Amino acid sequence: MLDLRKFLFLLQVFLIILLSTQVNGNDDVLVLTVATDETHGLQRYLRSAEIYGIKVEVLGRGHLWSGGDMNYAGGGQKINFLKDKLNELMTSEHKDKIILFTDSYDVMFLASLDKILKKFKTFSDTRVLFSAEQFCWPDSKLAAKYPTTEVANPFLNSGGFIGYLPELAEIVNSKTIKDNEDDQLFYTLVYLDKRMRDELKISLDHNSVIFQNLNGALSDVELKTNTTEDWPYIENVVTKQQPLIVHGNGPAKLTLNNLGNYLAQSWSKEKGCAICKEKKVELQEDSLPTIMMAVFIEQPTPFLEEFLLSLLETDYPKEKIHLLLRNNVEYHENEVEKFFQGHAKEFLTAKRIKPSDLITESEARNIAKDRCMNNLCDYLFSIDSLSRVEPGTLRYLLSSGYDVVAPLLARPGQAWSNFWGAISSAGFYARSHDYMEIVYGEIKGIWNVPFITNCYLVKISVFKTNSSKSVTYSKENVDADMAFCASLRELGIFMHVSNEISFGYLVNPENFDITRTHPDVYQVIDNKIEWEKRYLNENYSKNFETGREHLMPCPDVYWFPMMSPRFCQEWIDVMENYGKWSDGSNHDERLEGGYEAVPTRDIHMKQVGLERQWLYILKTYVRPLQEMVFTGYYHNPPVSLMNFVVRYRPDEQPSLRPHHDSSTYTINLALNTPNVDYEGGGCHFIRYNCSVRDTKRGWLLMHPGRLTHYHEGLRVTGGTRYIMISFVNP
Ligand SMILES: *[C@@H]1O[C@H](CO)[C@@H](O)[C@H](O)[C@H]1NC(C)=O
Ligand SMILES: *[C@@H]1O[C@H](CO)[C@@H](O)[C@H](O)[C@H]1NC(C)=O
Ligand SMILES: *[C@@H]1O[C@H](CO)[C@@H](O)[C@H](O)[C@H]1NC(C)=O
Ligand SMILES: *[C@@H]1O[C@H](CO)[C@@H](O)[C@H](O)[C@H]1NC(C)=O
Repeated sequence: MLDLRKFLFLLQVFLIILLSTQVNGNDDVLVLTVATDETHGLQRYLRSAEIYGIKVEVLGRGHLWSGGDMNYAGGGQKINFLKDKLNELMTSEHKDKIILFTDSYDVMFLASLDKILKKFKTFSDTRVLFSAEQFCWPDSKLAAKYPTTEVANPFLNSGGFIGYLPELAEIVNSKTIKDNEDDQLFYTLVYLDKRMRDELKISLDHNSVIFQNLNGALSDVELKTNTTEDWPYIENVVTKQQPLIVHGNGPAKLTLNNLGNYLAQSWSKEKGCAICKEKKVELQEDSLPTIMMAVFIEQPTPFLEEFLLSLLETDYPKEKIHLLLRNNVEYHENEVEKFFQGHAKEFLTAKRIKPSDLITESEARNIAKDRCMNNLCDYLFSIDSLSRVEPGTLRYLLSSGYDVVAPLLARPGQAWSNFWGAISSAGFYARSHDYMEIVYGEIKGIWNVPFITNCYLVKISVFKTNSSKSVTYSKENVDADMAFCASLRELGIFMHVSNEISFGYLVNPENFDITRTHPDVYQVIDNKIEWEKRYLNENYSKNFETGREHLMPCPDVYWFPMMSPRFCQEWIDVMENYGKWSDGSNHDERLEGGYEAVPTRDIHMKQVGLERQWLYILKTYVRPLQEMVFTGYYHNPPVSLMNFVVRYRPDEQPSLRPHHDSSTYTINLALNTPNVDYEGGGCHFIRYNCSVRDTKRGWLLMHPGRLTHYHEGLRVTGGTRYIMISFVNP
């Protein structure tokens, strides 16, 4: 009697046998490709095969490629590898063996082999099925010889075919081909030979039932998702097919790179970026990779001081970082030199490139890359001064497991970012279907894209190519970053941008005018985040805490911390460097009527190019304070025609006689400190017999302008007092 254990054992054996014959769904199918190099495209191909349980035999691995540049005619070597393999199989295999051949660098499987076979068997009277495309390539004259051209994809493409072993063996043995001759031309001529076509029963997959070639078909193919739980797939909306193998032939490689972000279970709305999770690596603290941190200051940059300091905040041991600090802006040289002198010693090595070195951006970037390779560092971390990244960014990038990867950085609230989703045929920016969703974080993941800039990590091994081409930042008439990305694309090296988490942002240098005194203080509109950090009083937000008791030194005169001491100093510097204080007479050309009843010695914001910025400050930082304390009064944006800094000093104008302001409310910002910068001074409200003398630097007084708050400026007896005044809503 069969005991239970024996039975289970036999069952197990039976299952193992059953499963092993099911490795490719059906033992009668062999999936072949040719790949001499371990490219990112091959990795993507093999992953897609694995996802669908397809076992692939890679022919030519480790061989030297002699099939030419695949952007041009060539590829005969693929046939020669295949011929050897098929001839070997012919000696041992039966005639019902099916061979599926595909290219690999620009191909992905989208379904299991069972599905592919099932579809293949729906082609009647077919022993060999080639994929088909819209272009007759490489010899367009052959188009006239095709038996049918009134179909969706009239012409043979050699990037994918499926058929029975004997017929395929006969095809590849029908003629000889040199490695650098064209494989597609070879198969095309076989197909166009009527005798061979009929005898070997060769058909073309005109409707993309199995094979979808993307070149020329971009508007035919749509990326679709049924529900948020499902993986995206592609549909050929012309032929209503859901292709099972996709080929980014010719210039459509970048389209495949985009689709590949989603296909083969790479990403779904619900599961997120599945492929990202597969690649993650854990950093080993005792053997962290060595980094070349290459810093580039190529243009006048707002808040450069903060940028340099942020480099020191990078969460990574500095003894694992080689620093290369390249500055090409004379204006920043003092700041950069100060930083370098102060901190160079903290790094493993440190090198400067100065404006006076007269090195182009491309050369400088090539130097960084070469130094990295010579210093045996493991990664190049390139960061431009426009980037503002969180301290953990470098670690994140390292542990992403990607060879070339950028953190997504964008100008806050704008679509301007450090990557392109697509590229025009001329090599410039083009918008991809998913660009906005990625920039605004509506979809999250790590995305294969054709262009990255400003901040990225490159694994140094990608620079060590086997190709005669190399990665370079130099190309005639092309910016360094465009040259770099173009060379990566040509080498088939994938670059990525991640928005899995938020990493920081880009500053906007467009209106940064270094002819100004303290140009950063002008940047409140373009670079608000950085501006607030430096110039808003650190206690400003406390004004809005619930239950806060606002200081009121005199009736209805409120008192708020608003600007930082640094703001006050720079604001004074801007005025003093400009220097054209009014003469204190009633005659004032700056005013519409030319007459000022209560004149002060002052400079208007218009005179120093700060009017727009100051109105923005009123709207953004002053108005909310007003609405909080003088409830029920709304006026947005606040209007203010008179915005000026007043200077009081004993030898000029020491005080101001009692007056009303032409305003609904007035603000009075103290720019310096009593008993330190000046003696005396202050503001006296006559109706209340109340004075504010102990004003605080960066604090704002806010009071009604008319009727109740008749006031005067108290006499300054020594030093110089500066206040910033606005008459809001006159
Ligand atoms: C380059 O060639 C070497 C030696 O043949 C091989 O180990 C390596 O994988 C190749 N690199 C690429 C990117 O194919
Ligand atoms: C999506 O729906 C179509 C049509 O109902 C179906 O044929 C296809 O298999 C579905 N695809 C996925 C990935 O769920
Ligand atoms: C902010 O408030 C804290 C605590 O009251 C104080 O110590 C600090 O000096 C204030 N900062 C400024 C810039 O006024
Ligand atoms: C105003 O107040 C001061 C002291 O705070 C006092 O000496 C003076 O008499 C007051 N003036 C009037 C008009 O009430």
